[in-house]
Amino acid sequence: MSGISGDELLKLIYCCGVLEERVAEAYKHMAERAGDSILKAVLGYIADDSWKHADALKSMAAALGAGAMDLEECRRVAGELWATTMRGVDRELAQTSRLTREELASMIESLADLESAVMEEYLMMLQAEAIKMLLEARPEANCLKMIIEWMAEDEKRHARILEALKSR
Ligand SMILES: [Fe+2]
Repeated sequence: MSGISGDELLKLIYCCGVLEERVAEAYKHMAERAGDSILKAVLGYIADDSWKHADALKSMAAALGAGAMDLEECRRVAGELWATTMRGVDRELAQTSRLTREELASMIESLADLESAVMEEYLMMLQAEAIKMLLEARPEANCLKMIIEWMAEDEKRHARILEALKSR
């Protein structure tokens, strides 16, 4: 990752935006399946956060010069994280019945793992040599770095929320 080029980093930022979009869809879908209204509200909160991340990442990538990308390219750029996320999202979207307690527990396990993986990805982006080159010429771009940092913190909070739901 530290050896990633500026171009690849931009692509990764964009693709993480696409990932967050899918994650948001999964949370929204889960919220709709939940019987409990508090659970619905909590999952809806994480879904909204994820939409916000998706939008920020995609517009940041575009602002820094990323071109349009297809899903095949994202699959390559985001590698393992992409595969795991899509598997998890598809699993949720395939469910139509009401969310049971048991199902919630196992879903939470994999979502919590996913949240930490996404957080790691953001932290790695911030550590990448390429981000310096990408932002160097544009001092105001430091705000973008800050935003990615805060997104990583959000992911940590999502994992904490899921943890709290599990121990209900
Ligand atoms: Fe998240």
